[in-house]
Amino acid sequence: MANKKNIYIGLMTGTSIDAIDAVAVRFLNNSIDLIGTKTYQFQTETVKSIRSLCQLESVSLNQYSELDNDLGKLFAEAVRELMDLHDLQPSQICAIGCHGQTVKHHPNNDKMGFSIQLGNPNILAVETECRVVSDFRRADIALGGQGAPLAPAFHKFCFGSEEENRVIVNIGGIANITFLPKSGHVQGFDTGPGNTLLDLWCRKHINKPFDNEGSWAATGDIDINLLQSFKSEKYFKTKPPKSTGTEEFNLSFIEKHCSDSNSQTVDIQATLTELTAQTIADSISTLAEPVDKVYICGGGCHNTFLVSRLTKSLKQNNIDAPLSTEYLKIDPKWVEASAFAWLAKQRLELKAASIPEVTGAKRSAILGAVYFP
Ligand SMILES: Nc1ncnc2c1ncn2[C@@H]1O[C@H](COP(=O)(O)OP(=O)(O)OP(=O)(O)O)[C@@H](O)[C@H]1O
Ligand SMILES: [Mg+2]
Repeated sequence: MANKKNIYIGLMTGTSIDAIDAVAVRFLNNSIDLIGTKTYQFQTETVKSIRSLCQLESVSLNQYSELDNDLGKLFAEAVRELMDLHDLQPSQICAIGCHGQTVKHHPNNDKMGFSIQLGNPNILAVETECRVVSDFRRADIALGGQGAPLAPAFHKFCFGSEEENRVIVNIGGIANITFLPKSGHVQGFDTGPGNTLLDLWCRKHINKPFDNEGSWAATGDIDINLLQSFKSEKYFKTKPPKSTGTEEFNLSFIEKHCSDSNSQTVDIQATLTELTAQTIADSISTLAEPVDKVYICGGGCHNTFLVSRLTKSLKQNNIDAPLSTEYLKIDPKWVEASAFAWLAKQRLELKAASIPEVTGAKRSAILGAVYFP
């Protein structure tokens, strides 16, 4: 690997708070050369600290800053492991694109929206001896946008097609779609919960971090009334631009709707899985042009039951079963981390990377701030 240059590292840590996904990539014309990958699992203590900061109404500056520093160190550790594993030197790395751990996403605040990602990029730069690009969302918010989703421009770069109208669905903690029609008019927004409600219901009732392959949900019955109640939530009726987070889809959301339900916990898991599937399919059915193919990425791809329910819902709209982004030559696990490596490249090249039609901003912007070792 020693002779390779122009490598970018991407770091993604999503709302699932499961792990740091790290990739080393090079960008070719309209494709990516995935040089190396590393999943850096979070320790239980770190997950607890992040979750508690996300859930608390007010936090101390000390708590906030300590987690910011701790995450900066963990991101650096993840990068060092990635570099050791693939024999990479700092001189080969153009920059690290670090999304950071979202602890608050509040784009529709009355005064001005905000979105906070932690993971001190100064520490990351110093400890890895690499340039770092971080704080990707706030330029878009300053321009009146949601600051999210940001992956659509990357999806266009690597998945755009002149032959078919494609939808890319990322099923992370939150699910988001990008529509890439041949006409070039990209659309994209968060559809609502991806895995986040499924994970928290599992943690609460079967003491597991996630519903492996959806096998628990598959043994339950979907409660149609409860599903309709979940789907009556305002977010699902709101027109894009829109984005969301665990501030909206959390245990209170489930409990609010379940208060009149007699369903067993396993039936609620089945119903939550159906909620994710249907709200993705419903969102796809609202797109401005006919859809030829749907491709999926993110951890939710491994939830076999969820994918089978999504397939069923898409079929009702005469859309074929979704395919993995593997068919488009990118492993579904590494799409989002690669997006942040690409966004770092856009930043260094002073290229605007947000799509105002997607985020709702006044115009597109150069995203991110650069930190030097
Ligand atoms: N074998 C599996 N069976 C069921 N679900 C799985 C499996 N493997 C992963 N998942 C789900 O995927 C989630 C992690 O997905 P991912 O890392 O894409 O989400 P994320 O960290 O929220 O990222 P992002 O915000 O970029 O979308 C896990 O929390 C789990 O719910
Ligand atoms: Mg993850």
